Amino acid sequence: MSPFLTVPDRITVAALIVAAGRGLRVGIDLPKQYLDLGGEAVLARSIRCLAADRRVRSIICVIHPDDRALYDDAIAVLEPEIIALLLEPAHGGVTRQASGHAGLEALAAGHNIPDIVLVHDAARPFTSPALVARSIEAAYAKGAAIPGVAVTDTIKRVDLLGQITDTPARRDLRAVQTPQAFRFDLLLKAHRAAVLVKDEDFTDDAAIAEWAGQSVHVFDGELGNTKLTTSADFVTAREKNRGNMESRTGIGYDVHAFAEGEHVILGGITLPHSHRLSGHSDADVVLHAITDAIFGALADGDIGSHFPPSDPQWKGAHSRIFLEYAVQRVTARGGRIIHLDTTVICEAPKIGPHRDQMRESIASICGLSLDRVGVKATTTEQLGFTGRREGIAAQAIATIQLPASE
Ligand code: CTP
Ligand code: MG
Repeated sequence: MSPFLTVPDRITVAALIVAAGRGLRVGIDLPKQYLDLGGEAVLARSIRCLAADRRVRSIICVIHPDDRALYDDAIAVLEPEIIALLLEPAHGGVTRQASGHAGLEALAAGHNIPDIVLVHDAARPFTSPALVARSIEAAYAKGAAIPGVAVTDTIKRVDLLGQITDTPARRDLRAVQTPQAFRFDLLLKAHRAAVLVKDEDFTDDAAIAEWAGQSVHVFDGELGNTKLTTSADFVTAREKNRGNMESRTGIGYDVHAFAEGEHVILGGITLPHSHRLSGHSDADVVLHAITDAIFGALADGDIGSHFPPSDPQWKGAHSRIFLEYAVQRVTARGGRIIHLDTTVICEAPKIGPHRDQMRESIASICGLSLDRVGVKATTTEQLGFTGRREGIAAQAIATIQLPASE
């Protein structure tokens, strides 16, 4: 599925994180979603994964009534813009099904009933933004969709005595993951019906939707999107997290010429000006320089190689598309952006008064906290093409962390 398939802005998306389990298979007193993983609780990391997609407008966690203090501690490390997405947590039940249902009823009782809900296990803290994006797009296209990966082991069905009763064809099997994505009304209705059935054990939301007669689509999951289940999983996860990361730096530079017009777009925001910038896309030099800096840090081509100017589909395109794609390339390689810095070079418009708005815009596109984005500006003392007010130039530097290569 294309990462650019557009879900209309009017479609609202909520995330529901089931976090009321006891984590018995880990074998520690503290439920696994509150265990530490690289300086923060597993739950905080799972919340971050879903908040990384700007289309997720609200997040509700379903917690055990005894865990309120643990929950408050876990979310305290999150950035204010992520905390702002969090609704009052709901109280879960004794089964995952009951917890999911409680979360859906809490959303249904709220002010803003979402169009799409993503149901996610708190115990999956490695979900990439690309997977979250795919799940939203798949739910929009199909109504009910879940991520799955091909199984590599042959799977047997056995009876109580351990005798094999069936060997399903491996090519037909998928190991399914979360976030599972549904039209909200459809999943709520299925849960409300399923709660009346006492003898079924629904271990995921797809099973409830299937039981209710809904066809559920499976899209590509990710091998890295593991669910922490045993203490061994935590050992592996902590190794993966420490995972021998290395820092990379990339540089970007871009220039666009002025043309007749009334505003320029810089860093994703529109500034009134005596001219516009001309270019194939929206000519946002700042986002172009940052995008190239990220591609540079990845040693992964440049903006022109990923989005050829000769391709008509990028005509007039919002440059945030390019930057979001570059960020996805980082996360797809298990990396993260540490810092972005940019210098805008022009005599006018004055950047200073808009600096913070520009930083906020860049930070939100990249899913970063504000203190990880620098924006500076300079003139060239009326020298050269920027001094003659013929156009605007921008430089950028991206610092990223990637799993160390061999
Ligand atoms: N979950 C829940 N309410 C329950 C049971 C599970 O919200 N009554 C949540 C868990 O917190 C977890 C997810 O569902 O995020 C997946 O469940 P699982 O991995 O089985 O977690 P636990 O039930 O906590 O672990 P265990 O089965 O080992 O006790
Ligand atoms: Mg369980």
